[in-house]
Amino acid sequence: MAHVTGLAAARHQLLSDKDWDVTRQGLAGAAPMRIFASSLRHESINRAVSLLGLGLDNIEYVPGDDSGCMSVPDLNRMLRHESGRPTIICLQAGDLNTGQFDAFDQICPLAHKHGAWVHIDGAFGLWAAASDKYRHLLRGAEQADSWATDAHKWLNVPFDSGIVFVARPEAHLASLTTRAGYFVAAPESARDQIDWNPEWSRRSRGFVVYAALRELGRTGVAEIVDRCCAITRQLVDTIDAMDDAEKMAEPVINQGLVRFLSADGNHDQRTDEVIERIRNGGTAWFGGTDWNGKRVMRISVCNYRTTDEDVTRTLDAVRAALAG
Ligand SMILES: Cc1ncc(COP(=O)(O)O)c(C=O)c1O
Repeated sequence: MAHVTGLAAARHQLLSDKDWDVTRQGLAGAAPMRIFASSLRHESINRAVSLLGLGLDNIEYVPGDDSGCMSVPDLNRMLRHESGRPTIICLQAGDLNTGQFDAFDQICPLAHKHGAWVHIDGAFGLWAAASDKYRHLLRGAEQADSWATDAHKWLNVPFDSGIVFVARPEAHLASLTTRAGYFVAAPESARDQIDWNPEWSRRSRGFVVYAALRELGRTGVAEIVDRCCAITRQLVDTIDAMDDAEKMAEPVINQGLVRFLSADGNHDQRTDEVIERIRNGGTAWFGGTDWNGKRVMRISVCNYRTTDEDVTRTLDAVRAALAG
């Protein structure tokens, strides 16, 4: 819903730039929109695009550079083609495989030169801004038009605490605001949540987020970020040093990828078997995924309670699964 909200504001703004009020007139007859995204994007972007009637076929994939991040020269070339077309550019702050960040400082000015809207999926990565060590990864992100993030990842609050920030309040409000006769009028100065998100009724999700932020403060969030990143690095490097194991990419933040090798060359099967043995052991849980055509094991560390002892036990569990 954070993506839906950010992209609804984008849709409203970009079509209103073409003298079209999408809230009243709908999409039929409107200028056709396009969405630029890279292979790093999360599938939840596609879902928001389809829910908003923008059409999955209107997503144009921008090639990636060596690290998978959106290639700026390719984006430039694509923006120049049909340059008057309303365009949303979806960028990634911390992708779920290697934690990669797009080049916001180069892409935002380029996008705005062409009148495009920039939306950043920072489900993990926006929290890195709290850390002195990782803040540089977000350079330029402040120029984006909307950000989505999850408090239920690095902030460790219960599920369902998605957050959206929209830099254009008029477009945000115009795309969602609603009134009904039975409403109790809020004082002029009060911000009524119904105007800013897709739900009519909504429990006070913001309360736990506020409580967690008050409890942790900036330094507390930075400690969680730094610690989870250090643990991820330790897990990836230690597994890489084990016989028959291989690191697939350097972790950028708290996401890493490894795989397990088989003497008969069937590394995909061995990787799935080792993942299953680790899970069945009951000490740690890792997911498997496809990455650059290979089966790999995802290492994703978010929990503030993970101790050094947990890391040691996890590494022992990986060793045992590999030996088994
Ligand atoms: C990068 C990224 N974006 C978006 C999401 C959507 O997550 P949720 O539905 O939990 O908000 C996820 C979930 O893992 C993610 O990793």
